[in-house]
Amino acid sequence: MTKVLIATDKPFAPVAVKGIREVVENAGFELVLLEGYTSQDDFVKAVADVDAVIIRSDKADKTVIDAGNNLKIIVRAGAGYDNIDLSAATAKGVVAMNTPGQNSNAVAELALGMMVYCARGFFNGKSGMELKDKKLGIHAYGYVGKNVARIAKGFGMDVYAFDPFIPKEEIIRDGVKYVGTAEELYSTCNFISLHIPANSQTKQSINYSLLSLMPKPAILVNTARAEVINESDLVKMFEERKDFVYLSDVETTNKAELEEKFKGRFFFTPKKMGAQTEEANINAGIAAARQIVGFIKNGDKTFQVNK
Ligand SMILES: NC(=O)c1ccc[n+]([C@@H]2O[C@H](COP(=O)([O-])OP(=O)(O)OC[C@H]3O[C@@H](n4cnc5c(N)ncnc54)[C@H](O)[C@@H]3O)[C@@H](O)[C@H]2O)c1
Repeated sequence: MTKVLIATDKPFAPVAVKGIREVVENAGFELVLLEGYTSQDDFVKAVADVDAVIIRSDKADKTVIDAGNNLKIIVRAGAGYDNIDLSAATAKGVVAMNTPGQNSNAVAELALGMMVYCARGFFNGKSGMELKDKKLGIHAYGYVGKNVARIAKGFGMDVYAFDPFIPKEEIIRDGVKYVGTAEELYSTCNFISLHIPANSQTKQSINYSLLSLMPKPAILVNTARAEVINESDLVKMFEERKDFVYLSDVETTNKAELEEKFKGRFFFTPKKMGAQTEEANINAGIAAARQIVGFIKNGDKTFQVNK
């Protein structure tokens, strides 16, 4: 019988496991659970005779992948997949997948939540401002960016988006204003919300020359990745623009310096929590189970990341 292993050192919520079990057992497969394990060896042992694995932030390294004698597919329940050794998977003919989009509403709600928090002076008891009619620039119009646009329109914000890889028509169809360059986006909008991936093109790309284009007051929201920010330019922006505020779900490495010099002008969530909702966990876990069933029964490789 086809065996599907859930290997989670930080377990899914029980309701998510229940949903995964239903999908797996309805397909005629067997579900095996390895939850809250403390040694990587336990993962290596558990993978030996299973056909498929669902992980969260667990490390599917070469040792794990090579130990999977029958392993055909490994799915990261979530967006990022840098915890899977993709070349080891490819070398062994194992399909690796993520479950894109399943946590995007959660991340988008957090982005808007931080904007409200900032607009109301971090709830300091003084008069703040409203988001209605303010210009919001969405930097990258993927799963999260699209959800931010949808929610921001509900707030009555004037929404702009820049994404060189998304057709102009798609952006306009959503009632969002299309912008052809990052420079135009930054010079137009008081609020910028970052939704770019971290890659060789985007790392450190959010720099002073872009940020300084922003009109006053300038509010930068980062629920994407810390690496996309040029940290010394962020400091320069704080120094030169008293109106500048930074809101982030991903801490910079120079947090201590920011604390010391610019207290009250930035907000970091205590730990990365954009995707930390019960719904996102359930959605991602069940999507992972469905993708495994689709692949094993029908060869569906839609979300393969090691092509
Ligand atoms: N805070 C969290 O917990 C959390 C959770 C999920 C995702 N994320 C992060 O949010 C970001 C967006 O995630 P997503 O699920 O929307 O990803 P996605 O792949 O759906 O969207 C990314 C978008 O970026 C665009 N893009 C790529 N390179 C670009 C560039 N150079 N300039 C402009 N646009 C570019 C792509 O065309 C795509 O539309 C990622 O950085 C991801 O790591 C954070």
